[in-house]
Amino acid sequence: MNPLNHVAIIMDGNGRWGLKYKNSRNAGHKAGLKTVEEIIKETIKNNIKYLTLYAFSTENWKRPKQEIKFLFNLLENFLINKIEDLNKQNIKLKIIGVKNFSSKLNKLLNQSEIKTSKNSKLQINLALNYGSKFELINAFNKLKKSKKKINEKNFLNYLQTKDIPDPDILIRTGNTKRLSNFLLWQLAYSEIFFEKKLWPAFSKSDFNRIIKEYRKIKRNFGNI
Ligand code: IPE
Ligand code: IPE
Ligand code: MG
Repeated sequence: MNPLNHVAIIMDGNGRWGLKYKNSRNAGHKAGLKTVEEIIKETIKNNIKYLTLYAFSTENWKRPKQEIKFLFNLLENFLINKIEDLNKQNIKLKIIGVKNFSSKLNKLLNQSEIKTSKNSKLQINLALNYGSKFELINAFNKLKKSKKKINEKNFLNYLQTKDIPDPDILIRTGNTKRLSNFLLWQLAYSEIFFEKKLWPAFSKSDFNRIIKEYRKIKRNFGNI
């Protein structure tokens, strides 16, 4: 049975779900947050140490202003209402991506990270204004400036996922088979599951089915 330390998720399909069932993309984002909470619970039950959630990409700024505003309001309220609870559950929150939001949200994100920094049950990496290409170029530049030898070990120190093991599993919901600029380096050997269901419809039984399937896969890492 394969060990499982890290699950990464591209939570796609909120907008389509919202339009289909509530006639509003934003209602889909709200419903997607319920799925996030359910999957966090399930991650803990499965004793998984890292959960990385793609919440907003560097490309998502192309969306209409009102949708972006809604998304960040949702996040703000989530943090205000839930950070104590996450902290009590011994969950550590880490933001990956560039924090260039409103000063209120930046502060809230920093406070949430500091508050939970010593926690050890589960680490949630929330990818916000995250783009893998930016992360890689930034890392290369920093490594070059350091004058250290350019090798894999030194390079890893400059990724935002420093000290985080690579994802064992990548799940993308929403019936689309692409990576959308997510963890291009880190996913080199991950087992990838593209799910038809839209994120708000994704359930704990879907999650557990994927884990069960993953456990049985023969992971070669180039070996035989
Ligand atoms: C993913 O759902 C969530 C974010 C990108 C914030 P989408 O909003 O992309 O939903 P669809 O793909 O349009 O249905
Ligand atoms: C990927 O979903 C980003 C997140 C889930 C945050 P998108 O809906 O933005 O991806 P594309 O644009 O369809 O590739
Ligand atoms: Mg989408």
